[in-house]
Amino acid sequence: MSMASKIRIVEVSPRDGLQNEAGLVSVADKLALIAALADAGVQTIEAGSFVAPKWVPQMAGTDELFARLQRRPGVVYQALVPNLRGFERAVAAGVQEVAVFAAASESFARKNTNASIAEVLERFAPVFAGARTAGIPVRGYVSCVLGCPYEGEVAPQAVAGLARRLLDMGCYEISLGDTIGVGTPAAARALVQLVAEQVPVAQLALHFHDTYGQALANIHACLDLGVGVIDSAVAGLGGCPYARGASGNVATEDVVYMLHGMGIDTGLDLARLAAAGRQISQVLGRATQSRVARALG
Ligand code: HMG
Ligand code: MG
Repeated sequence: MSMASKIRIVEVSPRDGLQNEAGLVSVADKLALIAALADAGVQTIEAGSFVAPKWVPQMAGTDELFARLQRRPGVVYQALVPNLRGFERAVAAGVQEVAVFAAASESFARKNTNASIAEVLERFAPVFAGARTAGIPVRGYVSCVLGCPYEGEVAPQAVAGLARRLLDMGCYEISLGDTIGVGTPAAARALVQLVAEQVPVAQLALHFHDTYGQALANIHACLDLGVGVIDSAVAGLGGCPYARGASGNVATEDVVYMLHGMGIDTGLDLARLAAAGRQISQVLGRATQSRVARALG
């Protein structure tokens, strides 16, 4: 495979970004973020999650968010679901696409979803069945692909096997999550090469957190393998409440700046992305984590 000439950005800030905030962000502020992302040209937005509110209170307002969401033509608004209950909430809210998530490490699966990897997959069986009936596409995340906060190293073969399993169950795309941002470029590249033997690279996405400052380098190392989808979050928001020390996703502004510099089209407007990042950073009362947004001022 060679480098893609166009890359689709999946903007995960309203979900991955805001699920990890200490304070609750209002539905109105979330909707303003989502609107600003659409203004910047983002066509895939993970708008929230239908997980147990006892586990992640930050996402409790997702039903209301979808009820109030003004959908723009050409924009897909996704939601993360952990089980059939979450899927049913998503359907009731009129969600067009859902994402399921499983971890390549048993300890993380237990902490994040209170179940073994096998049990998590069992929970998804009725979600896939319901999604097929309702014609709802399902995206799949594999977490801890380059390391686990509890177990340390994760076997790349385990990641590849789980990715294949999710594909076989019905996912149209598998997003590889470096949940705690420990990966380095050579490891990231080797992993994507290995997984691509099980899942066509055209159906893979990169979801790299930037805890160790490696995310952009890791993405760059995988581009010439033909990766065409990257998950990122404006202002570098993000983190998983059940992965201690996990900091933000790679900042969308930084990814887009790099890709445009390489002549790769994203369809996104960098200045507007930076504005979206500034707007939500103001709500959160802190500076943006995007180096590019800071440089643009
Ligand atoms: P559990 O406690 O084992 O399940 O949680 P349960 O079935 O016993 O349910 C407990 C309570 O939650 C019950 O309420 C259920 O009704 C309720 P109670 O009877 O006690 O009042 N409940 C729900 N309520 C609303 N919506 C639902 C739902 N399900 C149960 N869908 C469960 C199991 C999976 C539900 C829980 O562990 C959970 O919600 N976990 C999600 C954690 C989470 O959101 N983590 C962050 C997202 S993953 C991530 O960030 C990684 C990613 O970005 C990729 C990467 O970076 O690697 C995707
Ligand atoms: Mg994540």
